[in-house]
Amino acid sequence: VKRLDQTIYLAPEGFVDELRTELGDASDVRERLVFAPGPPRTVAWAQNVWLEPYEIEIGSITDAARKLRSIQRNWALCSLTLHRRAKLIQDALPHVSARPISFPSQAPAAPLGSWTLLDTHRLIASPNCTSPFPNGEVEFKEDRQGPPSRAYLKLWEALVRLGKWPRQGERCIELGSSPGGWTYALHKLGADVISVDKAPLDPKVAALPRVSILERSAFSIEPEEVGAVDWWFCDVICYPARLFTLVSRWLAAGTCRRFVATLKFQGRTDHQTARRFAAIPGSLLVHLFHNKHELTWILAEVET
Ligand SMILES: C[S@@+](CC[C@H](N)C(=O)[O-])C[C@H]1O[C@@H](n2cnc3c(N)ncnc32)[C@H](O)[C@@H]1O
Repeated sequence: VKRLDQTIYLAPEGFVDELRTELGDASDVRERLVFAPGPPRTVAWAQNVWLEPYEIEIGSITDAARKLRSIQRNWALCSLTLHRRAKLIQDALPHVSARPISFPSQAPAAPLGSWTLLDTHRLIASPNCTSPFPNGEVEFKEDRQGPPSRAYLKLWEALVRLGKWPRQGERCIELGSSPGGWTYALHKLGADVISVDKAPLDPKVAALPRVSILERSAFSIEPEEVGAVDWWFCDVICYPARLFTLVSRWLAAGTCRRFVATLKFQGRTDHQTARRFAAIPGSLLVHLFHNKHELTWILAEVET
C-alpha cells in the first residue's frame, strides 16, 4: 500500500477540459479522472475529489475486497478498465445503497470511499472523498406531477449540498423563474416566493397561494422595492459577467441573507468570471450533478 503524493478529481461528464484548465498542472488523465500533484485544491469543475489516494497491490478479487474492507466499510467503484473484474470486487464489498433520496433530506453522513482498477494487480483507492454520493451522482425521487420543468432538481441538489433549505414563512425571491420549477419547489417547502421573469409562469404555479409574480426583467428590480428576503435565487439565462454585476448589486444592498445562482456559460467557459464568483467571501462555486454547462454559486450566509 503506497500513499500517492497526488489528489484525484472526477470531472463531470463532458467537462474534463474545464477541470484541467482549473488545475493547470494535471499530470495524468484517465477518462474523467484527473490526477494532479499535491494536496487537494478547491475547484468548481469536479463531481468528486479523492482526498487521500492509495495505490494498492492486489493478488485476487478476494484479496482486493479484503484490503479495501480493512481500510473502511463503504466504497463506490469508479470503473475505467477491466469492468468485469472491478464489478466482481465491488460485489464482494458491503452493499452501498444508491437508492434515490427524497427531498428535503440531509446528505448521507457515512464516509464513502472511491476506488478504481489500474490493471489486473493494482488499484487506487481513497477512503476520503468530498462527496457522500457514489461518484458525486445525486439521484432524487423525482416529483413528476408538481413542477412544470426539471430545473428544480438542481435547486434541490444545491440545497442538499448546503444542508439547509427555506423554511415555512421565509421570504424568497427568484429571478428567471419561468416556467416555475424552482418557484413550485420553494413554495412546496412552505416559503413565500416573489417570482420574477419576463415570461409567464405555468398557470398552475402562478395560482399557488404564496407566490407573487413580477412579470419584468430581473435586471430592473431594485433590492429596495422588495425589502428584506431570506433567500435570493437566480436562474436567469445571461452571461456570467452580467450575473456578477447583478449579484454584486444585491450583495451591496445588504437585504438578503442567502444566495443561490446558476452561472450559465454560452460557448466558451468564462473561467475568469467563475473565479470572481468563487472569491466572494464565504461562498461556494460548484458543478452540481444536475448542472449542464453551468456552475452553481452558493452563499450560505452573508458575512456581516
Ligand atoms: C432556465 S429558465 C429558468 C427555469 C426556472 N428556474 C424553472 O425552474 O422552471 C431561464 C429563464 O430566464 C428568463 N430570463 C432571461 N432573461 C431574463 C431577464 N432579463 N429577466 C427575467 N428573466 C429572464 C427566461 O425567460 C427563462 O424563463
